[in-house]
Amino acid sequence: MKGIILAGGTGSRLFPCTKVTNKHLLPVYDRPMIYYPIQTLVEAGITDIMIVSGKGHAGHFLELLSSGHEFGASFSYGVQEEPGGIAQALGLCEDFADEDKVVVILGDNILEDNISQAVKDFEVQEKGAKIFLKEVEDPRSFGVAEIDGDNIVSIEEKPEQPKSNYAVIGCYMFDNTVWEVLKTLKPSARGELEITDVNNHFVEKGEMTYDILSGWWGDGGESFDSLLHAANLVARKKN
Ligand code: DAU
Repeated sequence: MKGIILAGGTGSRLFPCTKVTNKHLLPVYDRPMIYYPIQTLVEAGITDIMIVSGKGHAGHFLELLSSGHEFGASFSYGVQEEPGGIAQALGLCEDFADEDKVVVILGDNILEDNISQAVKDFEVQEKGAKIFLKEVEDPRSFGVAEIDGDNIVSIEEKPEQPKSNYAVIGCYMFDNTVWEVLKTLKPSARGELEITDVNNHFVEKGEMTYDILSGWWGDGGESFDSLLHAANLVARKKN
């Protein structure tokens, strides 16, 4: 299984801190934000990792992360020319994946849980995709899953009236059919290729499984408050 970290996008919600650098290079407590998704993948035994960043700061990622040796990993790099959405950034990784299953993590997502078991489960899952959910107080700024027992009924992106409190976190596993799904996507109202449309494709085919995270989860890129919250979670765990 291969790993993919998506770290493109504009970071406009964290302006002016993102005026001259990339959101994923900002500190979350004592490390740059992108270190956390790297750690999540490496701890799950995934060491062949592609990192996609935006055009302006690609060189900074290379300087910071280099070959991946320091992390016990091997990094490949991709550049997303325009922030056309999470699913568009993922589309740049097809050759890298080379028919393997992939674990994709958004560069601003910080997970307390070790996802090794879920990765093992997905290795033997016959086909499709797997996502992680986390119950949150107000899920309106996330993808939100409606669930019925073991099944996901549908996922809505940033709904005004969420059908549950289960946020879809930014860590997804896909088999190699994802590449064809990506080619069928149309831009959403916000002009992006949406990962939620990709996930719904697998939901509709009955090929989507999910796990619920037991530990905390932080989306460091959503707002200054979420960045502070993520830093506090990390600090509390360390101290
Ligand atoms: O954090 C979890 C949420 O992430 C999910 O619940 C949502 O379903 C999903 O759409 C996403 O929502 P966000 O509004 O938080 O996505 P954002 O635009 O902040 O992008 C998240 C990361 O994806 C960002 O840190 C880098 C990467 N990205 C994003 C865009 C738009 C790219 O690599 N390229 C892009 O063009």
